[in-house]
Amino acid sequence: MATAAIIMDGKAVGAKVRAEVKRRAAAFMAAHGRAPGLAVVQVGEDPSSSGYVLSKRKGCEEAGIASFANDIPASVTRAELLALVHQLNDNPLVDGILMQLPLPAGLDANEITDAIDPKKDVDGFHPHNTGLLAQKRPGLRPCTPYGVIRLAQEYGIKLKGLRATVVGASNIVGRPMALELLLAGATVTICHTGTRDLRSEVERADLVVAAAGRAGLVRGEWIREGAAVFDVGINRNAEGRLVGDVDYDVAIRRAGWITPVPGGIGPMTIAMLLSNTLDAATAAK
Ligand code: GUN
Repeated sequence: MATAAIIMDGKAVGAKVRAEVKRRAAAFMAAHGRAPGLAVVQVGEDPSSSGYVLSKRKGCEEAGIASFANDIPASVTRAELLALVHQLNDNPLVDGILMQLPLPAGLDANEITDAIDPKKDVDGFHPHNTGLLAQKRPGLRPCTPYGVIRLAQEYGIKLKGLRATVVGASNIVGRPMALELLLAGATVTICHTGTRDLRSEVERADLVVAAAGRAGLVRGEWIREGAAVFDVGINRNAEGRLVGDVDYDVAIRRAGWITPVPGGIGPMTIAMLLSNTLDAATAAK
């Protein structure tokens, strides 16, 4: 018998996280005489990046974090961009550095993000921070996976011992997501383009994280009764509507918990970025 799924409200939980950040930012200001600072670097004018960057800056403003805008033309050279990163690394007013990805063709994102001081790596993309997470001693943690974990905690979903399937193996979401779930005590399967039978991997999961970036990849009828479903995908369908990777209308009849798109994981990602900025600022002092 299917019962109604609990729709996990990332906007509401994100607002709760942001309120915590705001309190911590005020305490930081009182102790240090300045606001915590986040440098947001955007190279070029990719329209979806511009949208994300704007939300991040707005989130900073509302939380009492100083955001330093660095809008860099796509024609920037590798050397110039590396020099900017070094300058931000050395700037005592900057606690966190966010390099919006993707970078324009011709720039090597790994080389640029590797140059960020790991202590200021609020995206958690630096191999140092990935390595700490892999060794179960997390430092700064990638925002989207960290947001999934926080949302699960807020809804009382106990991760220890769960069978978790992560669909997608990117450096930004899938891989760190698997490490987070492992850290939380789940038994983790990671699916990718080479996976032979995606359906059976999803069917036996108590928890599914869909992060492949393909609308409808995860079929609703594959979802186990009562499973927790976290949909990280943000895709535009044929009608121009934002949809996730999970076939939501069918999945919602089987899942125990599910995130909507939009309003699920997206707002959590930004909230965790702000939270990471406070963690970076307070660790540095
Ligand atoms: N591009 C897509 N997602 C992200 C993210 O979480 N951080 C950054 N810096 N760029 C992204």
